[in-house]
Amino acid sequence: MKKIVVLTGAGISAESGISTFRDSGGLWEKHKIEDVATFDAWCRNRELVLDFYNQRRRQLAEVTPNAAHLSLARLERKFEVQVITQNVDDLHERGGSTHILHLHGEMVKARSTVDENLIYTIGYKDINAGDKCEKGSQLRPHIVWFGEAVPNISLAAEMAHQADILIVIGTSLNVYPAAGLAQVTRAGCRKFLIDPKAGELNLGLAWTIMAKPAGEGVPELVDQLLQEA
Ligand code: OAD
Repeated sequence: MKKIVVLTGAGISAESGISTFRDSGGLWEKHKIEDVATFDAWCRNRELVLDFYNQRRRQLAEVTPNAAHLSLARLERKFEVQVITQNVDDLHERGGSTHILHLHGEMVKARSTVDENLIYTIGYKDINAGDKCEKGSQLRPHIVWFGEAVPNISLAAEMAHQADILIVIGTSLNVYPAAGLAQVTRAGCRKFLIDPKAGELNLGLAWTIMAKPAGEGVPELVDQLLQEA
């Protein structure tokens, strides 16, 4: 079976009703990264950080996967599919994909502040000041904040390097090291980019560009690849 690696960003969840970060009206226009998404912010104002992610988690409970998430699950009928996502939502899981690597953490999990291996599934519940891990330390969102290491990046790079087909969907490719994954494929790997602003990303001639919303472009590409297989 051919291997497909799919690298996704916030754009794939936009049509489900989750704001992206850098589009106009995006999350980083309404909140400052340094106030809510860094370890310093957590040390300075834990309540504000918890509240930011509690709001995001409550919103996540209200939304559903869209045609793009659902179509990616269909690809598994004929391909070995690995999704690598920068998203912290669980819409790939709910959309039916079975191999998903989260680069920037997961909203439905909390983790200990003294032992990074103590990770708890909390679903869509809030994390409050005073909620503790079994070792007695405050729980934090299981999110990779700016300035923190991305533990899954080496595994993701190996996966991307094995791909016969790479599909990049809905990411501005602004944030490293995740953005670098688009460049680590082998010679001969077919590469597709689906993003309404794809034309602005300048990835080079080897890419097939689909300047469309994910809800339209992904089902179209999935149909094409399933037909060819
Ligand atoms: P960005 O907000 O930087 O980029 C979103 C991309 O989605 C843009 O290229 C848009 O053109 C595209 N887009 C918008 N609507 C779309 C649609 N309907 N279909 C397809 N694409 C669409 O989001 P990311 O690249 O995911 O990290 O951001 C990367 C990381 O920066 C995030 O994981 C997050 C953020 O800060 C952390 O919080 C650690």
